[in-house]
Amino acid sequence: MTDTDLDTRAGLPGELRFLLEQHPRGVWETHENLGGLMRFWLSRHDGFRTLGGTLERIIADFREERLEAGNLGALLAPRLQQFLGELHHHHMIEDHHYFPVFAAAEPRLAAGFDLLEGDHEVIHERIASLAQSANVLLRDLHGADADRVRRSADAYALESGRLVTGLMRHLEDEEDLIVPLVLERGEDDLGVG
Ligand SMILES: [Fe+2]
Ligand SMILES: [Fe+2]
Repeated sequence: MTDTDLDTRAGLPGELRFLLEQHPRGVWETHENLGGLMRFWLSRHDGFRTLGGTLERIIADFREERLEAGNLGALLAPRLQQFLGELHHHHMIEDHHYFPVFAAAEPRLAAGFDLLEGDHEVIHERIASLAQSANVLLRDLHGADADRVRRSADAYALESGRLVTGLMRHLEDEEDLIVPLVLERGEDDLGVG
């Protein structure tokens, strides 16, 4: 059975890779059908990769005592808020605008869009859990004892890792499903250009 679980699958299931095999990653950048919309969308994904990595590094620096408690909140809070807000918005656009158009254009890939929508649901739950553990940590930074702050930071780091790791898998598989379809048909033909 094909593994579709966000935490354990190794990539897009084999039956959804037939266009990717014709349009492997190495040809994307110079392909004439990679238009403005796709370039913008890929750059949003790279933005999430970068910011996700930054957030992971900030909490690691704190837990490994390279960053003082007094500086953690100001570094973490605005970046986390931006990350979670933009991610939520990005998924809304994909779910409501792009996925229905792409799934209708290529019914053989429809199961892939169900998979990606399922990822969004999992990620959405993780966004809520991470926001909750961030609130506890940010509150504890103001006056709680060091042990309690450490426990809150550990709990936050666990949630952060679950979200960021799942998101990295999702971004790659989403690109592997969508970009080859756009290269095959062109943005204008699909009605998204
Ligand atoms: Fe997505
Ligand atoms: Fe996306």
